[in-house]
Amino acid sequence: MRYWTGKRVLVTGACRGLGLVITKELLSLGARVVIHSNSTPLPNEDMVLKALENGQALHVRADLCSTSEINAMMSVVLAGFGEIDGVIHNAGISAYGSFLETSESTFQQVMNTNLYGVIALTKAALPSLIKTQGSILFISSLAAIHGVPNYLSYSVSKAALVPLQEALELELKPHAVHVGLIYLGFVENDEHKYSLSADGGKIPVPKRNIRTKITKERAAKKVLWAIEYKKRKVYGDFSGRLMRFINGIFPGVLRGLLSKNQNKT
Ligand SMILES: NC(=O)c1ccc[n+]([C@@H]2O[C@H](COP(=O)([O-])OP(=O)(O)OC[C@H]3O[C@@H](n4cnc5c(N)ncnc54)[C@H](OP(=O)(O)O)[C@@H]3O)[C@@H](O)[C@H]2O)c1
Repeated sequence: MRYWTGKRVLVTGACRGLGLVITKELLSLGARVVIHSNSTPLPNEDMVLKALENGQALHVRADLCSTSEINAMMSVVLAGFGEIDGVIHNAGISAYGSFLETSESTFQQVMNTNLYGVIALTKAALPSLIKTQGSILFISSLAAIHGVPNYLSYSVSKAALVPLQEALELELKPHAVHVGLIYLGFVENDEHKYSLSADGGKIPVPKRNIRTKITKERAAKKVLWAIEYKKRKVYGDFSGRLMRFINGIFPGVLRGLLSKNQNKT
């Protein structure tokens, strides 16, 4: 039997962006998917609607900034699917603005979504993941390798996932739960992708013309590969390994590049 057939996987932020592509890839591989979203309605796509109709998928809603919503969501997931074999922590938000300008509430929203929400959901899902000897996959970023000016809250939240993965992996080893992390570089954006401004408003993220950008399909396949082969830490593409190398050998070069590009969104 193929690895994903019948696996019950919760994908956060699954109604748009990379999360939606991961969801479709999982459905096509025969997995059962818990499609989580917060504010985005279900996509009007045949594959997703059909899966919801025939029980291959389940749609749940929760604001990851709310532990009570996360716990209520997990009850619905367990009532619907029995147990869960994997959680892909895909949902995330970034904020653009200097440390000086960024309000505390914006900083908190980013930390709550990208870190505390991830922790709360991991806690809520863990008893089930222990039973199924399942997988947890954190989606981090190159912004975790070195702090990125004007994206400080995002960098801090994504960097914090690194020790979370490292320590959890060791703690959960006796339970045979896999814990992995992927450092994604630039992935193509949805047209309506937004980040937060310093005061918490929504600002559109422009289409990126970056040479190292990868497609959402390629990023999704790498995420699923990391789970199937129980990888600890992987890079979405070559740019991550390059950044890690430069940071290790020529940290001044990386600091120079980040400093030069710090006003780009
Ligand atoms: N795109 C890139 O270049 C890139 C690079 C490195 C890492 N990443 C990471 O990859 C992941 C996906 O990126 P993406 O580009 O697909 O992002 P995106 O298009 O901006 O989508 C973000 C997702 O996060 C969900 N979300 C945000 N705040 C939430 C909250 N408070 N509660 C629940 N869900 C919330 C959204 O759900 P709703 O729409 O339902 O609110 C949405 O589905 C993120 O973790 C991101 O940091 C992306």
